Amino acid sequence: MKEKLNAIREAAQAALADCADARALDAVRVKYLGKKGEVTALMKNMRNLSAEERPVFGQMVNDLRAAIDDGLTAARERIEEAALAAKLKNETIDVTMPGEPVTVGRKHPLNVVLDEVKDIFLGMGFSIGEGPEVELDYYNFEALNIPKDHPARDTQDTFYISDNVVLRTQTSPIQVRTMEKQKPPIRIIAPGRVFRSDAVDATHSPLFHQIEGLVVDKNITMSDLKGILEMFAKKLYGEQTVVRFRPHHFPFTEPSAEMDMQCFSCKGEGCRLCKGEGWIEVLGCGMVHPKVLECCGIDPNEYSGYAFGIGLERIVMGRYKINDIRMFYENDVRFLHQFD
Ligand code: DAH
Repeated sequence: MKEKLNAIREAAQAALADCADARALDAVRVKYLGKKGEVTALMKNMRNLSAEERPVFGQMVNDLRAAIDDGLTAARERIEEAALAAKLKNETIDVTMPGEPVTVGRKHPLNVVLDEVKDIFLGMGFSIGEGPEVELDYYNFEALNIPKDHPARDTQDTFYISDNVVLRTQTSPIQVRTMEKQKPPIRIIAPGRVFRSDAVDATHSPLFHQIEGLVVDKNITMSDLKGILEMFAKKLYGEQTVVRFRPHHFPFTEPSAEMDMQCFSCKGEGCRLCKGEGWIEVLGCGMVHPKVLECCGIDPNEYSGYAFGIGLERIVMGRYKINDIRMFYENDVRFLHQFD
């Protein structure tokens, strides 16, 4: 009997030593310790033994079972350690290898300057207004005192979605939308994309950007407008900046003006940059037309306001001496990497 038990023990140990994975281990466990396993089968011999022999034999079988169990545990640990070692070996990182260069993007020049403009106006108590790029004819033209047959529509030809829905040609409709839902005091700027049916050349693009400004309150005058806009120009272009206001016409402001900046290149003498003018046009502005105020439910006898519209591309081109508007939209990294 004893020999048989020893033979089983040795066979089990040899089988465990050969195991390379958990599956093989389980097969060994079932073969010896399972319900129909060899060690379990030994118990059936008990019946043939005498009363004195039984406990001795029982003890021997239990010892055998414990020995195989310990063998299983040891083999399991050996297999797990080997697997971990193999995994660590495969996943070794060679810290001396050269790293992959990370290309870091930059802010687009239009955004660099837009963020500055926002900072300047936020610092003067303005907040940011918004409106849709696909706009009703009513907001883009009609409510801004540009009826259907008004000649001002010719200079702002756009893309029509339908008779009454257009891609906005200017950010000025945001003035109307703001005044409709907010009562004075109002002090906003509203940057955004605008569209015109223009052929592409060095100074024209069917898509460009404007920054609208609107202030409405009691006792707002043209001198408030001039003060704020001159301050804006000095903050953006430097203290030495000289500006002038020139009468102009916009249907939604009365009186209207354009603000020019003295050419920073020739100091007003006239050069190539300013096309011999000595001055560079920066923005359109004026006192909000009483008809526009009325249209938005604001009493022009009680309130007055001023508005302005800055062409973002134009001020960025002046700032960085860029001479072709197309550069902004071509996404050529050699161009884009020059600004921060
Ligand atoms: N919307 C005008 C344009 O696209 C610019 C402009 C002029 C806006 C005068 C204004 C303004 O708010 O008061 O030409």
